[in-house]
Amino acid sequence: MFQPARGTRDLLPDECRSMRYVSDTSKKLASLYGFEEVDTPIFEFADVFRHMGETSDVVTKETYTFADRGEQDLTLRPEGTAGVMRAVISNGLTQQTPLKYFYSGPMFRYERPQKGRYRQFHQIGVELLGVASPVADVEVMALGQQIIQSLDLQGDYTLELNSLGDNESRDSYRAALIEYLHDFRSQLSEESQMRLEKNPLRILDSKSDSDQKLLLDAPVYRAHLNAASEDHFSRVIEMLEGLKIPHRLNYRIVRGLDYYCHTAFEFVSDSLGAQGAIIAGGRYDGLVKRMGGSDLPGVGWAGGIDRLALLLQNPPAGESSHMFVPLGEAAEAKAVPLMQLLRNQGLRVEMGYSGNMSKRLKKANQMQAKTAIIIGEDELEQGKAMVRNLQSGDQTAIEFDNIATFLKSIDA
Ligand code: HAM
Repeated sequence: MFQPARGTRDLLPDECRSMRYVSDTSKKLASLYGFEEVDTPIFEFADVFRHMGETSDVVTKETYTFADRGEQDLTLRPEGTAGVMRAVISNGLTQQTPLKYFYSGPMFRYERPQKGRYRQFHQIGVELLGVASPVADVEVMALGQQIIQSLDLQGDYTLELNSLGDNESRDSYRAALIEYLHDFRSQLSEESQMRLEKNPLRILDSKSDSDQKLLLDAPVYRAHLNAASEDHFSRVIEMLEGLKIPHRLNYRIVRGLDYYCHTAFEFVSDSLGAQGAIIAGGRYDGLVKRMGGSDLPGVGWAGGIDRLALLLQNPPAGESSHMFVPLGEAAEAKAVPLMQLLRNQGLRVEMGYSGNMSKRLKKANQMQAKTAIIIGEDELEQGKAMVRNLQSGDQTAIEFDNIATFLKSIDA
């Protein structure tokens, strides 16, 4: 028997509803900040993503890349930022800043599946381009905070924050970290030993306890921020404090993608085990330029819709309907056009397809229908239906022409 491919899953109605609620709520809140929706292709030329991180795991180990029938190298998008930047460049939008985009959709990463981590997952995201001021960093974080708050999630969450500084600060820290770790090279985990050459900053977020012990005496990133970077970071912190957005400085937030500078942040939930990041992002000045566009600053984040949906305290319930129970063919012939008339007026009505009356009423109750609209021979003759309120048990005979008004009064 076929099963879904590893790391993918079928989204049945309950989960679909929760995920739709997460993305709709986020989109609505993002629009309060001026973000407008864009939608870029699910696959892009593989080079679009290569530009964004030659050393990041996401780009080197986790992409689904394939040659299509025209022998073009294509990649299923592992995230949204690179595609949006490509779209900004392709559509010649770099002069029209600030650009503020919201997006939502499926992403693909070849990762080891576990709770809250899938190979096909879904993100909401925002990108704010053309604003170098720390005001932009704070606005996108404030939006993240507002979304999480209004979704009303289980458990607690924390905004964890770090600054990677500009290129100069990053190079200076990188050199200091390599020098420090060099002496402990053989004590580092295998993964960190490899990273020491290619991407030493990622060692900071190593999962190995012994690596973390070694890091206790490592040089402090913040001490290597140059004046401009320190100023940017302290203004971000000041504004977050002004907004009373709780946050925690965490030097381990270096992020798994290579394009970040200055602010890097993650909203982390305490209720998801190892995969706690629910919304994460940061500043990525220079990415558009590296991809062949002009030198645009940018800042944004993406949130895991699957994870956020899993954490909803009050997932939205499905809407209940009114169920028709026509008994016999003549009643059915009356019910079908009547139901259509009601649907045209925006009423939610369904057919209780078959079985005897008690079986159909049982089904209507199971489906939490609001009413059962019974049409038997007597009702047909009188031009009426028996409408039974399934909550109160009350039954009322209603003329066919008046059913719409009656059902609307129940829905109200
Ligand atoms: P990211 O940290 O790679 O950032 O992903 C953002 C969020 O997507 C994560 O915090 C998590 O909630 C969710 N996520 C990532 N991978 C998976 C997975 N395999 N299964 C389920 N959920 C997952 C980015 O993608 C950047 N593009 C964010 C950004 C936008 N930075 C600037 N602008």
